[in-house]
Amino acid sequence: MQKDSIHPIKRIAILTSGGDAPGMNAAIRAIVIAAQHYQITVVGFCAGFNGLIDDVHVLLNVKDVSHIIHKGGTILKSARCPAMTTALGIAQATNTLLKEKIDALIVIGGDGSFAGLIALQEQWPGQVIGIPGTIDNDIDGTDFTIGFSTAINTAIAAIDKIRDTAEAFERIFIVELMGRHSGHITFNVGIACAAEQIISFENFATINQRVAEQEKLLSLAKEIKLAQTNRHASYIIVIAENLWHGGAATLAQQLQTVANIDCTACILGHIQRGGSPVAKDRILATKMGVAAVQAVMAGQSNIMIAEQNNTIAHIALQTAIMHHEGVSESLVQAQENILALTAQRLC
Ligand code: F6P
Repeated sequence: MQKDSIHPIKRIAILTSGGDAPGMNAAIRAIVIAAQHYQITVVGFCAGFNGLIDDVHVLLNVKDVSHIIHKGGTILKSARCPAMTTALGIAQATNTLLKEKIDALIVIGGDGSFAGLIALQEQWPGQVIGIPGTIDNDIDGTDFTIGFSTAINTAIAAIDKIRDTAEAFERIFIVELMGRHSGHITFNVGIACAAEQIISFENFATINQRVAEQEKLLSLAKEIKLAQTNRHASYIIVIAENLWHGGAATLAQQLQTVANIDCTACILGHIQRGGSPVAKDRILATKMGVAAVQAVMAGQSNIMIAEQNNTIAHIALQTAIMHHEGVSESLVQAQENILALTAQRLC
């Protein structure tokens, strides 16, 4: 969306917000380098929108961002900021932007961060641009978000190791993966690790949750028993966090109580958010960072920089946070109709 009057851009602000994601530093670096190319000053606000509300900032130049492309986390720090859902918080953030004479604000974050940006844009006349940075990959209009590829690679590497010990001990593991509202991580990791069971938002009912859990518990017990009878050495269940009442630990207990099955629960947790970004995230972040500065120069506002079919696209922020796009339907169908069924038969 083009702003009506384009005036020379002198000062761009950036911040990283919400759960950090590997590749955020690569995006910061690309923005700073591109801005310097166009002789624009970059102001970095610290700790997400909190730094904007309290006016805690640093000036960033190319030297400040050298040798950060390989680092996880974010040099600007990140945080969630409940104040950005209040009129007072938005007014304070607006004041800072006016006081610091910011022409455009680029936010690297997820849906909650974009909601803050949309609210801000209603009060502040400057340009607002979002860059999708979240391990959850739950942003509409972009094929991938920054951090997702690294997170799934980290989880896959961890589960491959769990598989080794599970094979050696003939054990059953229940591995809980991140993504409290979205199954991208669980589903993709489950497929890539050849998990015997994937329990995720895409294939597990959320209406009548208690009933669904009871039914699933019984079918799981049956399948695990069959696998044990056939001396199928290891058995790995991946489950999305925030899906099963009480999570992986409770499911392990229930299998013990209901069918006397010993399971080891393992919550991978924040290990999935850290670590050096993989090539895919570094490259995606760099492309998006440069594209964000170019979008500012072109007078764009209220958009998210996306990548679709390897091409940069501009998506309305309101569209980006709609949560219409889930895990690839063909992946879900392949798992449900072929992989899972065949695996059961071969147990
Ligand atoms: O950033 C996304 C995410 O890592 C989700 O996958 C997870 O559910 C959530 O953040 C955890 O948030 P926090 O670190 O605040 O506990």
